[in-house]
Amino acid sequence: FFHTEIPEGLRRLPGPKPFPLIGNVLEVGSKPYLSLTAMSKRYGDVFQIQIGMRPVIVLSGNDTVRQALIKQGEEFAGRPDLYSFRFINDGKSLAFSTDQAGVWRARRKLAYSALRSFSSLDGTTPEYSCMLEEHICKEGEYLIKQLNNVMKADGSFDPFRHIVVSVANVICGMCFGRRYDHNDQELLSLVNLSDEFGRVVGSGNPADFIPVLQYLPSSTMKSFMSINARFTAFVQKIVIEHYATYNKDNIRDITDSLIDHCEDRKLDENSNVQMSDEKIVGIVNDLFGAGFDTISTALSWSVMYLVAHPEMQERLHQELKDTVGLDRTPRLSDRPNLPFLDAFILELFRHSSFLPFTIPHCTSKNTSLNGYFIPKDTCVFINQWQMNHDPEIWKDPSSFNPDRFLSADGTAVNKMEGEKVMIFGMGKRRCIGEVIARNEVFLFLAILAQKLQFQAKPGQPLDMTPEYGLTMKHKRCHLRATMRVRNKQ
Ligand code: HEM
Repeated sequence: FFHTEIPEGLRRLPGPKPFPLIGNVLEVGSKPYLSLTAMSKRYGDVFQIQIGMRPVIVLSGNDTVRQALIKQGEEFAGRPDLYSFRFINDGKSLAFSTDQAGVWRARRKLAYSALRSFSSLDGTTPEYSCMLEEHICKEGEYLIKQLNNVMKADGSFDPFRHIVVSVANVICGMCFGRRYDHNDQELLSLVNLSDEFGRVVGSGNPADFIPVLQYLPSSTMKSFMSINARFTAFVQKIVIEHYATYNKDNIRDITDSLIDHCEDRKLDENSNVQMSDEKIVGIVNDLFGAGFDTISTALSWSVMYLVAHPEMQERLHQELKDTVGLDRTPRLSDRPNLPFLDAFILELFRHSSFLPFTIPHCTSKNTSLNGYFIPKDTCVFINQWQMNHDPEIWKDPSSFNPDRFLSADGTAVNKMEGEKVMIFGMGKRRCIGEVIARNEVFLFLAILAQKLQFQAKPGQPLDMTPEYGLTMKHKRCHLRATMRVRNKQ
């Protein structure tokens, strides 16, 4: 790479000088979103680091990232072949594998349409506008009940532990047509392990880049493999049950719709993309995994921010009280009347930037960006954290201030400002669950803020330090909640 001939008219990428063998691992350190943001100030929006022996390009700044992921989208849409990615979904992940462009595109389209149809499907009663709303409202009510019970029994609760089950149940409903009890050990042991998953898959894990580390015993890596194996086995079992009870005339959920697609495809002689049934049905594994970890992380952070800013918690509750009242559960249609809640969520996405880098990208051919030469198959990190804290774009970026997204009179969200928040990626690899995620974070948070008041546990100061990973989480902690409205059930 370093000795590659640079085509005429293009420049060699700037960046810190790498040490032999380890490259820039030490400078990148344990908080890459901070160290790589600091480096972008020194070297610019496009620079190069080396992790082990492997060069990595780091992109920052809205214009540069937009140029790469949208204007030159095709060239930057690949995924690198990283060691840890090989264990995800048996190496057949839609989001992490190195599928050829045609296969990835076909799988992404399938995933997107299955997700869209099973979230927007009519609810079972006219009370709900769609299946997604019905699942969230019901799970929201269960969650309130559950937190109330835990508070009565223990006097405090671990927010992530309970939120993750509710969120997992929403995606389980759409993917598998079933839900799990809050004490179901099989589900709990699976979803409560997602911290470890995120830590290994986070951009810049040295084991992904330094082959010798892959041969050394590592308890983190071992548990990562075991989580992936358990996750695949969990989904596999449900898929087998679906095959056994599949009925073409009664497509119950996303798994059925993917099985149905395999059956249809066998009849379609014109199908030009070669894909195994496993690769098609395996899509449900990605949807389930992406669907619970990200949203529960967002909601768990939301509760932490509410506790850290009690005046905002009161303002949010008041907004809900004034527009929705306290007698009915909020609905998706209430969103236009809850601008502060919307602004709070945008600021949560921006300030926490809990998905600090997108999943790493990879160039599909020799290319250039901002006049710099970038060879084919180069790993590319997109620094979303930098974009959300760029002082060129955000006034006082380190302060948590939802009002930055509101009109002067506080009655409307400024859409243009909102679109500057970068948390779902952009361009060809942009998250396919974005609409569902935004709706789900909105509705769960509306239900929680309407019914409960959250506080820190006396004597336990709130620790908002993020732990680095693909999704950054706060440290596990215990909080208190009191009911604002008497639960009718
Ligand atoms: C990819 C963010 C929720 C499914 C991604 C990416 C990001 C992201 C940053 C990578 C983009 C890139 O590589 O450039 C988020 C956030 C969420 C969320 C912040 C919640 C707040 C969801 C949900 C689903 C989902 C609910 C599905 C049910 C996916 C899939 C991909 C993806 C399948 C891979 C797309 C591809 O590689 O083509 N998401 N996501 N995500 N997301 Fe999400």
